[in-house]
Parts: sequence; structure tokens; C-alpha cells
Amino acid sequence: MCGIFGVINDQTNEAAQTVLSGLKKLEYRGYDSWGIALKATDSNDIKIDKHIGKIGSAATSLPRGSIAIGHTRWATHGGVTDANAHPHLDCSHHIAVIHNGIVENYQELQSKLKTQKHVFVSETDTEIIAHLIEEESKTKPFFKATLHTFKKLVGSNAIAVLNGKTGEVVVCRNGSPLVIGVAKNAIYIASDATAFLDKTNTAYFMEDDEVIDIKKNDDVSLYSISTEKEKKLVVRKIDWKAEAAEKAGYAHFMLKEVNEQAKTIPNALTHKDKTIAQVAQRIKVGYKPILIGCGSASYCGLAAQYLFAQAGVEAINFGAYEFEPFSPLVSEKSLVFAISQSGETADTILAVKQAKKNGAKIVAIINAQGSTLERLADYCLPVGAGPEIAVVSTKAFTAQLGIFFALTGELSKINPAPFIHDFPLWLKNKKTSETILNLAKQLLKTEHIYLIGKHINYPSALEFALKLKETSYMHAESFASGELKHGVISLIQPGTPCIALTAHDAVQKEVISSAIELKSRGAYIIGVGPENNKAFDCFIETPDNGASFSIFYNVAVGQLLGYYLGIGRGADPDKPRNLAKSVTVK
Ligand code: BG6
Repeated sequence: MCGIFGVINDQTNEAAQTVLSGLKKLEYRGYDSWGIALKATDSNDIKIDKHIGKIGSAATSLPRGSIAIGHTRWATHGGVTDANAHPHLDCSHHIAVIHNGIVENYQELQSKLKTQKHVFVSETDTEIIAHLIEEESKTKPFFKATLHTFKKLVGSNAIAVLNGKTGEVVVCRNGSPLVIGVAKNAIYIASDATAFLDKTNTAYFMEDDEVIDIKKNDDVSLYSISTEKEKKLVVRKIDWKAEAAEKAGYAHFMLKEVNEQAKTIPNALTHKDKTIAQVAQRIKVGYKPILIGCGSASYCGLAAQYLFAQAGVEAINFGAYEFEPFSPLVSEKSLVFAISQSGETADTILAVKQAKKNGAKIVAIINAQGSTLERLADYCLPVGAGPEIAVVSTKAFTAQLGIFFALTGELSKINPAPFIHDFPLWLKNKKTSETILNLAKQLLKTEHIYLIGKHINYPSALEFALKLKETSYMHAESFASGELKHGVISLIQPGTPCIALTAHDAVQKEVISSAIELKSRGAYIIGVGPENNKAFDCFIETPDNGASFSIFYNVAVGQLLGYYLGIGRGADPDKPRNLAKSVTVK
């Protein structure tokens, strides 16, 4: 996915600088290249500044002006080059386009444009949009030309288009997110509201099939793309503060967000919400939970499957990308839990749309506000972790899990008070971070690491491994500890590091015996849990607040270990290579 940002009627007359700072807040959405298009104040020209690479502390040489749009790219069509960086221009250079999504029919559109003598300078699908609008503008006003062009695009897309002659900006949405920020005199456009929260918290979250026409004089009009009829634009207040989307003194967003779990996990666990009771009631009367998510969200779904089973409820978890073959299992008696930090992941949205077609009720377990999933759902359970900027999910994952603790009645069986007391103290304890940092230093050169866990600590191990892969690019693989003897143990050589995730539970001894099996093959055993053991070569202690809460401790160890390993191996935990915060294309 990519990041879109724009400002119309910038009061500082420094629109390019404003866009650059907005793009910096969106870099987690893609950081292969970036670019800005500015409406020149003294001509019909559009000034362009674009570069490959992360924005980081880059500056722009663009002149002053009050209207600009910008883009930070996660490359899909066309390599990472200056020419492929957005914005893209038409032949006349009076139209600039930035785009998030994939134009699935761009080849055929491009062939037709070439017969109309349009000249292309990039390998991207996006560039055809600028030339299509140029072609359409020969017979229609700019707004209609943009609208009709967008109708021709197949796929999940969001675009912002700047008219260099008039300063008019038109934005269209069908699949990829777009939010409009309404300030006293200026208008902002962004892929994510956190990018303009320092300017305004009054926003309109665009829906699919919507287009907004923003004229120089702050005249903002909303239309349906398909019917072309005007719609009432109703703004809402975002209850996130701008500083929530800042690093607040931490070196990286990831470290800040790991530490915020001292508050966000207890908040999620003690979240009183009538919707939870309504959803629980649906399950009581026989609706069958189906859990859907991607990445960390899918591991949250797997952990929830264990929690539901413990509560005597048959639930089934799918990676959203693998849901289709199983969609016939979904009926009007299904309760589909769509788990998603962003609420914009295309695979998850596609699965939800299929489930809705089968008559299922949808429960969105999401963190971001105003998302597509929020609008598709019958019930929305916001996890309330605040903006999660780092690409690597941490506090959103554990907050989503906290909601399932409440939903499955796990909390009614166990008293969360000791955990809510101990977890923040353990997380903030210097001894915790120092022990994990020392382990990271030991593992810095490691290329392969294996993890084992059992029951709820099997999804813990999967999420733990994902943190290591995402942040440090280390090959980390997790297994249910019982899986070892069925083939996996052949991978173990003398010195192979293996992490055993334990809890003070009924299977603690089995996990330790699996660790001993590994040790007998020469593995270096790293034990994580409330009790040390002579089988462990290294031990990371976590408080014992009961078996269920061990997943929070064990995953937090993985988050911190991944963070320190990533730093030590020269990666950027906030923006790992090849990844994006939420993949809004399928
Ligand atoms: C990936 C992110 O792109 O999408 C993961 O890198 C995330 O961190 C996954 O878990 C799913 O995203 P979301 O927003 O649907 O939870």
C-alpha cells in the first residue's frame, strides 16, 4: 500500500513543506520512494519533486504555494526508480496524479492511450490515470473527466488528482482508504487521519464509490461515483490526540508502542462494552465463531480459537488469504470475527464481503478509526490501543487478544488483577529489557532460530517468530512442541538456538521435555516463563499470573527481542524492508 497526503489552501503558503511532513507520518505505509506535486502560484505549471528511498529527514526544494499533493510509495507495478515515483503527470504537465492501489486493466487502457499519441515515461500503472484524465478533459470539465476516468479503472484504488491550471483537487476512493481533514481554512487529504491530526481532528472518512471535488475556494463537494449524485458530507471528530501519533522521545514507534502495552493491555482487558455482551449472547444462542485475519491478526485469531475451546465453544480460524475454499462453511448462523489493526487489509475485507454474501454476522475487532471494516461490520469492537504507527504490530495485537479474553469469558474465570498489576511493572523493569537485550547481543549473528510452545503458547510462538522475522529478517520458525518429533527435529544441529515458551500450566513439563529433546541434539535452549529449569542454557523470567496471561508475557519478550535484534542488525523496526503496515491490495 502507499501513503497519500495533500493540502488545499495551506495557510502558511508552504504547502510542499506541509505535505512533506504529512508524508513523513505516512511513511509506514510504504517507503520505496516519495514525491510532491505543487501548484505553482504564478503559472499553470505543476512543480514536481520526487526521490527514491525513505523520506527520513529529507527536505524539498519546491517553492512556496498553497496547494500540493504528495505520495510515499510501496512499489507494486514498476521498480523503485525516480521515474516510477509518484506523482505522475499527463503530457501537458497540467495534471498530477497520486495513487494507492492497483489498476488491474492498465495495459489495455495504456495501449489505447498510446494510439492517441500519449507518451509514457514510467513503468507504473498509475501514469495511465493522468493521461486518461487529459484525454477525457478534451470533452469534459476536470471534475467529470477525473470521475469518468476513475470509473474505467478496475481494481482497488484511491487517487488524488491536482489540476495545475485551477488548483482544483479531486479525490476518488474505491477500496483503498482516503480521509478528508477539515480545518478552519484549509483542507487536508490523507490515507490515514493520523497524518493531519496536528492540524485538525475533524474528518470525513470516504466510503467506496465516493468522489470529492475540492476547489481552490474551500468549496468541498461529495458525490457518488456510480450515480454522480451529490451526497451530504458529514464530518466526525477523531478522538485521538496528535501526540499519540508521535514518537514521544522513543527511538522508534515500535519501542513506544511495546511500552504503551502497560496501559493498552489492561484497558482492553477491562474494556466494558455493551457490544461484547451482545456478541457473547449471539454465541450463547448458537452462532458459530469464525475468525479471520492476516499476519499478527491471524495469530490472534488462532489464540482466540484456543480461548473459545476452553470456554466450550467450537470456533475456527482462517488466514483471510486462504478463506475462499472454506467460504461455503459460512452461513447465516456464522459469526465472523474480522481481526484487523487497520481495518483496511484487502484479504480480510474480501473474506468479510464473501461471508456477508453468505448471510453471516460480522464482528470487527479493529484498532484504527473510520475503517472500511468498521463500516462493513454488524458489530464493531474497537480495541482502543491508539495509533499504531510501526509496521510491526505489537500493542494492537495484544489489545485484540484482550478483547477475546473478555469475549470468551476467560476473564470471568480468572482474576486479571494480579496480571494488570504485575505486567506494567515487569515491562518497565530495566532488568527485563537488559536480559532481553543481552540475549539479542548473543543472537545477533544467528540466521536460524526455532521456537516451541504448547496450547495458547503455540500461537504465542507463531507471533513471537513473526516479530523476529519482521524486525530483524532472521529466519525464525515456530512449532507446537508436540510437532518436534514428527520431522522438525531433523533441523536441529549443535548450537541451534531454540526458544521454549512456557507457563505454569498443565503442559509445562511437556514443553520442558521437548526442550530436553532439542538439547539432546545439541540445541542452545532459551527458556521463557515463570520458572527456570536446568534444561535452559539461558532464561528470561516472566511473572506467574496464571497460564492464560502467559501469552502476553511471552509475546512481549518476542517484541522486545525482535526490536533489539532489528536494531543490532541494522534494520528499521518501524519500517522493515518489503513490508507495509496494511496491505490494501489483494
Ligand atoms: C501486514 C502487517 O501488512 O498486515 C502486519 O505488516 C499485520 O503487521 C498484517 O499484522 C495485517 O494487518 P491488519 O491491519 O489487517 O491487522
